[in-house]
Amino acid sequence: MRVRRAWPGDADAVREVGLKTWPVAYEGLASPEFIVDGLAAWWSPEAVDRGIRQGITMIALDDEKVVGMVGLGQEEGFWVMWKLYVLPQYQGKGVGKALLDGAIAALPAGTEQLLLDVLITNEPAIGFYRKHGFGLPRTTPARDLGVELMWMSLDLQSP
Ligand SMILES: CC(C)(COP(=O)(O)OP(=O)(O)OC[C@H]1O[C@@H](n2cnc3c(N)ncnc32)[C@H](O)[C@@H]1OP(=O)(O)O)[C@@H](O)C(=O)NCCC(=O)NCCS
Repeated sequence: MRVRRAWPGDADAVREVGLKTWPVAYEGLASPEFIVDGLAAWWSPEAVDRGIRQGITMIALDDEKVVGMVGLGQEEGFWVMWKLYVLPQYQGKGVGKALLDGAIAALPAGTEQLLLDVLITNEPAIGFYRKHGFGLPRTTPARDLGVELMWMSLDLQSP
């Protein structure tokens, strides 16, 4: 398995990860509307293409098959991990960790923290993030996440 930066030509494969992972990940954790609306808003061909061109998207490959993706972008000067998805049958094999490491390595030198927002009901993901050092942030973008989502952050500056 290897991780590399995604380019516009990878957009269909990146999108496929979302279409296959998003509904399974959120079934039972979020409302059917959240699942349908999220697919339309964040996994449309345009949204995936924009993420690749304007942010940083990395993909994990098993041979030549794309089995996971991570997408980062900037919001109010903060780097935010918008997406981290591993195909259901590839979860629990180190792919998520490899993508997280790849994402951190791709950030500009000197980046102080990596933020993300996660559904408060998504305990598997929150457990994964905690295990990898994410906690509650000191500062966040001003965007109000509402009651269903929470911010987490990883300090990237060694003390
Ligand atoms: C969350 C997700 C990205 C993690 O990726 P993954 O490939 O399944 O995780 P990995 O196999 O890389 O796990 C790496 C390590 O984290 C640990 N880990 C994974 N889930 C954990 C949890 N819930 N609590 C504690 N540790 C956890 C693993 O035990 C492993 O530890 P090890 O290196 O000591 O063996 C993946 O499961 C996924 O795509 N889930 C569905 C979509 C989702 O919820 N994405 C996040 C949206 S915010």
